[in-house]
This record gives sequence, C-alpha cells and structure tokens, in this order.
Amino acid sequence: MSTATSLPVARRILLGVTGGIAAYKSADLVRRLRERGAEVQVVMTDGATKFVTPLTFQALSGRPVRTDLWDDAAEAAMGHIELARWAELVLVAPASADFLARLAGGHADDLLSTACLATAAPVWVAPAMNREMWADASTQANVRTLAARGVRVLGPTEGSQACGETGPGRMLEPEALCAALFAAEDAGPLAGLNVVISAGPTREPLDPVRFISNRSSGKMGFAVAAAARDAGARVTLVSGPVSLATPAGLVRVDVETAAQMYAAVHGVIGTADIYIGAAAVADYTPVCCAEYKIKKTADCLELSLHKAPDILASVAALERRPYTVGFAAETNDVEKHALAKLVRKRLDLIAANEVGTDRAFDREDNALLLLWPGGRRELALQSKSALAREFVAVVAERFHAARQPAAAPVPVAG
Ligand code: PMT
Repeated sequence: MSTATSLPVARRILLGVTGGIAAYKSADLVRRLRERGAEVQVVMTDGATKFVTPLTFQALSGRPVRTDLWDDAAEAAMGHIELARWAELVLVAPASADFLARLAGGHADDLLSTACLATAAPVWVAPAMNREMWADASTQANVRTLAARGVRVLGPTEGSQACGETGPGRMLEPEALCAALFAAEDAGPLAGLNVVISAGPTREPLDPVRFISNRSSGKMGFAVAAAARDAGARVTLVSGPVSLATPAGLVRVDVETAAQMYAAVHGVIGTADIYIGAAAVADYTPVCCAEYKIKKTADCLELSLHKAPDILASVAALERRPYTVGFAAETNDVEKHALAKLVRKRLDLIAANEVGTDRAFDREDNALLLLWPGGRRELALQSKSALAREFVAVVAERFHAARQPAAAPVPVAG
C-alpha cells in the first residue's frame, strides 16, 4: 500500500464499493468520474451487491464488475494482482465500518481487500455508516491506523442518516469526492483551457500501396498531450498514423495525410486557446496518387510533388488565433533555423529539437530549445514524458504572460 496522500490526477481508478445504503451514490460517482475522462473498474464486496446490482455499475462503468476473488473467468481476463497494478488510485466509496476494520487489520479474504493490499497506488476511503458506529472507539482507532499508513480518509460528513438518526457518518457526495480526486487538475496551470495538439507523421500516398512519410513515432506529441491534460487542459489530439494507445481523458482524431490533418485541426481550432504543432507533417505531397500500383518498368522514376498545406502557419494566420506553438526539427544550425520559423510563421513560441537517425525521432528521450519573442529556455535531454511536463509548464507560463494586459504607459510629468 502506498503512503502517498496527494497525487497527479489518476486516470485509472479502481472503485471499491462495500455494503451500505450509500452504495447507490457510487453509481453517480462512476458517471462523474467517466465524464472527467477516468477509466473506472468497479469491485464490489458481497455486502455491496445486496444494495445495488453489479449490472448497474457495469452499465455505468462500461466494464464488467468484479465481485469474486475466486472467479476463474474474470481472473483469466485480469487477475487480482494485475487489477491492483492497473489502478492508479483505489477509492473505496462507501467504506463500511467492517471494511475499514479489515483494511486496518491487513485482511485479504475477498477481492477488494486483496487488491488494496496488493496495490502500489494510493488508497483513499470514503467512510459511510451510522453515527454511533463512526464514533465507536474501534472505528476511530482503525481510521487512525489507516491514516498513519497513508490511506486518505475523505469525510464522512454530517446529516440525516438512512437509519433515521442525524450526525457524522454520511458519505461525501459524489461531487465532493470527484472534486477531491481532480483537485490537482482543477488547480493546474491550464485548468479550463482547450488545447489542440498534433502528433505523429503524415502519409502522402503515391499509389494504393505506397506513401511518402517520415520517422515520427508520435511519442513526443502524445507525451505533450498527456502533460497538457495533467495540467488541467481539455485536450484534442490530432494524430497521424502511429501505434500508440490514446492517453486517457482526451479526444483523439486520427488522420493520414497532411490535407486530412489540416482539415481535422481547422475543424476544432475555433474553440482552442492553445495550438501545439508537434506533428511531423509532410512539406511536399505527390501532385497525384496513381489509381493502380506503379509498375517497375522505367529505369528512372520521377515523382512530381507540390507543397502540402502548412497547418501551423495557417493557424497562426487566423483572425482569432489561439496561442500558437510550433516545433522545429533541425539537423543543423538548430537555433538559427528555429528562430527563422518562429518569425516567418508568426508563432508565439517554438520548440526546437536536433533531429537525426539517432535523435528525437522515434526515441524515448529528447531535448528541446524553447524560443519566443524576447526569450529562450533550454530543456535538458530526458524522457519524453518528463520533458513534456517541463515544456507544458513553460507554455502555460508564456500563455498567461501573453494574456496579461500590456502595462499602461507611465505618465510623463510636465
Ligand atoms: O514523434 P516522435 O518520434 O516522438 O518525434 C518527435 C518529433 C521529432 C517529430 C517532434 O519533436 C518534432 O520536432 N515535430 C515537428 C516535426 C516537423 O515537422 O518539424 P518542421 O521543422 O519540419 O516543421 C515546423 C513546424 O511546422 C512543426 O510544428 C510542424 O508541425 C509544422 N508543419 C510543418 C509542415 C506542414 N505542412 N504543416 C505544419 O504544420
């Protein structure tokens, strides 16, 4: 069990539901978590199934609900250890007095208690019970034990109870639980902003089976998308053909060609606050695509190419333009060429990387030189996900700085 009590926003949440009338509120909680882009795997104790059916949670979570440690078919799909590893956060809501006692005692006699023991993810509990049960010395001792081990205890709150009494013991409302889970995101530097990011290569077809493309894997753009999401942004990721899973919680639009990427970006750019062009878009595309496979007849084959649309420059040229960030992939004179692109394409910021067969493209790590009018910052070689977090922090800083109204001119005396 992890001792972490605060965390970046978790996208894979294992929701434990234990026996109590508040279990019905957890159905609404699942709905809210999914609306925020989380994947939710529900695990119910035997007692919980007496209050709400697994089918309700299955319909809301879109995943089969797990109830039994000894279910061979379910274990074959995702074993309890895998389940514990999958979770980025375990939230038990409602957590009954009995479950808190078993968790404090380190029991592993059902699926939920076993998952709580086996996970390295933070464990949070939202107790719900009768006020006397909550006030009882043994419950309080269990809660103290759990809190001392790093389990975060959310609530309970006071109010009228199902048993007719009034006092502390009500589970926090789903809205409050959701707010606690997404606190990091709601306070992030891009909270509430719409960010459109392009990633990956484009493919420009020559004939039905051949195309012109490049070595981009999409890793840099996808890492930037996940970092922007973690900074609180609503992210739309326009991706060329890559073999990467979509980071949870964002909208992905898949395209192949530069023309399709242009159309997809312009389809969503109207509401964007920030555009980040991390895709390696073709500069040139074949004038025409052969209807049939080109035959190997001539000794020499000439291809006729014309300029592909420049998506980045077209976004920067919009009358109501978002804060526009480009990338520059350069093999030589990196700063000079990147600076020229910043000016020529009228960008707000550019992220330059030195590229080559052993650099940046399709690598796990990268380094960036960030340039903006009047400023520069170097981000050292590191994993693309760590780099993306630093990069997004600078983009957020510059975005907010650009939004500040210009300082009023100082009145001149006399
Ligand atoms: O995908 P990875 O394997 O992780 O590799 C990451 C990366 C090296 C591809 C990435 O870090 C990167 O540098 N992306 C931009 C690649 C590129 O096309 O650079 P460029 O210097 O040719 O283009 C300059 C800018 O104009 C880029 O923001 C590009 O998206 C944009 N552009 C280019 C051509 C075009 N037709 N339309 C555009 O919008």
